[in-house]
Amino acid sequence: MPATAECDRTKLSMTVIEFETLDSTNQYAREHFKDLDDATVICARTQTAGRGRLGRVWQSPHDVNIYATMVMKHLESGFHAGCIAGLAGIATLREFAPEINFFLKWPNDIYWRDRKTGGILLETSLLGNKWQWTIAGIGININQTHFPDLSKKAVSLKQITGKTHDPALLAKELCGCIDQRYRALKKEGFAPLLEAYRERLHKKGEWVRLKKNNTIGKYLIQSVSEQGDLVVEAGMEYVFAHGSVKWIG
Ligand code: BTN
Repeated sequence: MPATAECDRTKLSMTVIEFETLDSTNQYAREHFKDLDDATVICARTQTAGRGRLGRVWQSPHDVNIYATMVMKHLESGFHAGCIAGLAGIATLREFAPEINFFLKWPNDIYWRDRKTGGILLETSLLGNKWQWTIAGIGININQTHFPDLSKKAVSLKQITGKTHDPALLAKELCGCIDQRYRALKKEGFAPLLEAYRERLHKKGEWVRLKKNNTIGKYLIQSVSEQGDLVVEAGMEYVFAHGSVKWIG
């Protein structure tokens, strides 16, 4: 049985379940979804089968990084889960490196400059066409300094700050930051979170290359819609849904 604990750093209203080892915190959340309380975070010190987006492997060395999955049962959309997870990830990193700026690369990556510090894996359950729930897996690179060739863009907090950090402490901070945002969402609605996401939007006001179908175009990044679509300009406004375009470069 896992240890169930309330993070003591702040008085959390959420449940935190900590494991030494899991195959994947997302997998655990999927398998136990029905039995988990609303507002639960599953944390592991290592994952033996960590998953990234697009079927990629997410390296999860022991006690090196953060591996967590957030389960919230009463959200209105998956985008809300992505916002909470991404913004909480940034707030956590800034607590330990206040002088560093992190941004959200649409849809769900945490970036420092042009390098990826963290990723979020949203997994959704649909009944027919109807959205039922989303879980958000959060991986944040804390002390890792060697990444496989495929992830040349990856960077850790250690590489950015030159200091080693305690991943357990950061994971606790993350739980507090998630809790705070979930409570704020319930109290104040989604608008403040959306605003915060827009303020942190990677490359806002810059021209970038995006690939749609087989065509690469240059677009000016403008904003994100309430539904979580990317809003860009290139002579006229375009709105791209999640998965419909790919970043180039
Ligand atoms: C990405 O590819 O950018 C998303 C990576 C998400 C990794 C995290 S680590 C915790 C959770 N469990 C998993 O198996 N994946 C997510």
